[in-house]
Amino acid sequence: MTYYEDFSPGSANRLAPRSWVRSTAPTLSLDGDWKFKLWPHADAPLEDPADWDTLPVPSHWVLHGDGKYGRPIYTNVKYPFPVDPPYVPDENPTGDHFRTFTLPEWDVDRIVLRFDGVESTYKVWVNGAEVGVGKGSRLPTEFDVTDLVVPGENSILVRVHQWSSATYLEDQDQWWLPGIFRDVTLIGRPSARVDDVWVRADFVDGQGFLTPEVTGSFPITLAVPELDVSVTWQSAADVAAFEVGTVEPWSAESPRLYDCTVAAAGETVHLRLGFRTVRIDGDQFLVNGRKVMFYGVNRHETHPVLGRVFDSDYVRENLLLMKRHNINAIRTSHYPPDPRVLELCDELGLWVMLECDLETHGFEHDESIVDNPSDDPRWAEQFLDRMRRTVERDKNHPSIVIWSLGNECANGRNLAAMAQWTHERDSSRPVHFERDLASAYTDMHSRMYATLEELAQIGTTGCGHGGIRPEEIVRQQNRPFVHCEFGHAMGNGAGSLADYQAVYERYPRLHGGFIWEWRDHGILTKTADGTPFYAYGGDFGEVVHDGNFVMDGMVLSDGTPSPSLVEYAAVIAPIVFGDEPGTFRSRYHSIDTSAVEFIWTRTVDGREVESGVLEVLPVPPGESGAFELPEQALDLAVEGETWLTLEAVSGHLVGSRQYRLSTPRRVSAVPTKGLGGAVFDPRTGSLLRIGSVEIAGPRLELWRAPTDNDARAGEWLWRERGLDRLEHRVRDVRIGDDEVIVDVRVAAATAARCVDVTYHWFGVADGVALRVDAVPSQGWDCTWPRIGVRFELPSVDEVQWFGTGPLESYSDSATAARVGRWTVPVDDLNVVYAKPQETGHRPALRELILDNRLRVGTVRDIGGHRPGFSLSRHTPQQVAAAAHPHELPPSDRVYLFLDNAQHGLGSAACGPDVLPQHALWPAAHSFTLTFRNLA
Ligand code: GAL
Repeated sequence: MTYYEDFSPGSANRLAPRSWVRSTAPTLSLDGDWKFKLWPHADAPLEDPADWDTLPVPSHWVLHGDGKYGRPIYTNVKYPFPVDPPYVPDENPTGDHFRTFTLPEWDVDRIVLRFDGVESTYKVWVNGAEVGVGKGSRLPTEFDVTDLVVPGENSILVRVHQWSSATYLEDQDQWWLPGIFRDVTLIGRPSARVDDVWVRADFVDGQGFLTPEVTGSFPITLAVPELDVSVTWQSAADVAAFEVGTVEPWSAESPRLYDCTVAAAGETVHLRLGFRTVRIDGDQFLVNGRKVMFYGVNRHETHPVLGRVFDSDYVRENLLLMKRHNINAIRTSHYPPDPRVLELCDELGLWVMLECDLETHGFEHDESIVDNPSDDPRWAEQFLDRMRRTVERDKNHPSIVIWSLGNECANGRNLAAMAQWTHERDSSRPVHFERDLASAYTDMHSRMYATLEELAQIGTTGCGHGGIRPEEIVRQQNRPFVHCEFGHAMGNGAGSLADYQAVYERYPRLHGGFIWEWRDHGILTKTADGTPFYAYGGDFGEVVHDGNFVMDGMVLSDGTPSPSLVEYAAVIAPIVFGDEPGTFRSRYHSIDTSAVEFIWTRTVDGREVESGVLEVLPVPPGESGAFELPEQALDLAVEGETWLTLEAVSGHLVGSRQYRLSTPRRVSAVPTKGLGGAVFDPRTGSLLRIGSVEIAGPRLELWRAPTDNDARAGEWLWRERGLDRLEHRVRDVRIGDDEVIVDVRVAAATAARCVDVTYHWFGVADGVALRVDAVPSQGWDCTWPRIGVRFELPSVDEVQWFGTGPLESYSDSATAARVGRWTVPVDDLNVVYAKPQETGHRPALRELILDNRLRVGTVRDIGGHRPGFSLSRHTPQQVAAAAHPHELPPSDRVYLFLDNAQHGLGSAACGPDVLPQHALWPAAHSFTLTFRNLA
């Protein structure tokens, strides 16, 4: 068996795994330009590198050379080659990396060569002598090269195979990106050194406790200057736990760190301690004695240009963006990130579920596949080795509160062994693995994409899926539950985040969850004619791929937060205002509300009239508070639609709610003489213009460009029923001086089911009004994407509106929407999703002003409902036909949609479809619009 196809976790001479730490020991970075040669197969000769190309390290070779070195491949579940474990195809791209370096004149005892991440299996030579083999792409490997290096110039050759036995364990849903993608470092090991260190910092009743574990050359001194701590141990036998007195605890909300040094005579290691104690008590997951609710996201390593290569500013900016959106936790799906990510989590404050680099999902893809590695003893060592390296590398981080064994492997003894080892090694953190459905060897009950009903069941009886035995259900009842993935944020969605949060709060056993996922994985590339775009599966000509399933984040590939992120921020906001103005509750885990500023604003017809800061006494974490509002905040003296908005701000928005104080009397559109300047086509009764403003329509529209969630739910039936290709037959046109009435039958080819529509135009004091009555016939058996009318205008540049906003919202994704007045350029109204789809709907419009030339108003119906609007440079048919934004045809038109309703978003791309209360089933709709020329 070749080294890249055997079951080993790497060569036996790899050094024992240890903590990734900052140390004073000398290092030489081997990052930078290397010589590079790509071979199409694994068994290439070792060549003279003189004529090779140049490639930066760290990097993925497929992201360089403009195709010369192959292209990225995206698959979700399936392996991109035949499943024949542990063998891989002969076509196995193999990248030889070569460089020279000058050995510094270090006064050291040993010299170590460390690789922080190489995908997937690699062999190393120093000065032509073989060093060893590394596996485990997102895990570090160290080799002792003391006997191989020489004073002066040295050479290093690293042969990296894209495919290997290890690939079978690295089937995460992401791009396949081979290469030396993390740092390569030469490390001097002084003779009096710290070999490894782990300082557990516990927090109990206000006191700090340190439990150190140190190996190295004694004496060794541990110091925490801020706490006046300095202890010197003469030998390993002296190392013992001790109390350090009063400390401030570490939490995601208050990430208090204490600098610590652990020093031997020749090396000092720097740690940053965070005092916190993780404990499971019955079905409660507690940190520092208080239950943690995870407002989390799954985070992959993805950068549109660098792939999985670490970029400090980029990562920090992303983590800060999370914090600004009230996110308090990440699951490192599905492998340990670059170690510096965890330093940032410690510093900025995020609860981390640290996951091992392990997934074998592709074994489930096809029934013909047997021999899942999870229960196969031949793979045992490679499983265990991965977990050891995970825990050992990252054990010092206070942010890590849970270890996760991996993702989407079958259940099996190799996983159980990993859990056992982890329990033994680190009793201070629980172990998670979603596929351990019966909680047989892990400490937390976990699921992905459970329905609300299943969650309620988990919260009460303790079971959420079939096939597990009563005694296993009892076990689950004694486990905290965490929803490791939910809210599949692909394209426009996911819906129902607020419904999920409500369920998490209803049942004490539930501890929230992690949205799938933080960011789209689009790779910046160009079309043949040079147009830049963000690529997804299939864009690089892959033989098998999973399309845009890799674009399922709350942040778009270019870094733009999508409305779903803003929605999530509102759903999980730390301050929740009560149903009546004057009360609130805090969702904070460990800080009081003293840093929060409470602001009130009163608006009339969307315009701010008055605002002020409230005096609010701080409340402890998790408690409720009350405050008095000044009289003016509730003043109803002014005519118009009056709202009170309360906001809680602590650096960013940490809570907000609107209260409707008054609604103006309902004014129906009263007919007057004339048609307000509206001009109609005498044959069809269609509007042509209002005064000088050209505007054509209306046209009933039931179709929306399917969202990624629709595509896996309603879309096929919508298409089957022809909602995307409705035909309109004018049955009757009556044009008078004061009214125009047009009857239209709308139906699709082959079908008898139809919608009868009457457009009734009449003059009103304010211009011209249109009443739309739409009545479906018998026989409709599918939801409708939307029910509304479409108008076509020559270009519009800017809109102002009074209604909901500022971003798009839908019936199951409306927590962040508020009633207000906004001005936005038309091109900023819609979201540029990776695959074009429905976007931009803003329900409950009061008035809309287009380029200061045309005013469109709505009339409230008896139930208080008003239509919403969206504007697009393309029809939904055009949008649906485009696979990427740049494929949309040039357009000099703008389409205005006034929708009385839209179907919800749901999460069917992965998870439940639109809930019944948010679904749009065919029904009769009547709504009234008004139009006025302002030009
Ligand atoms: C889950 C998986 C994730 C991702 C997601 C769908 O099953 O754990 O890695 O594939 O589905 O986007």
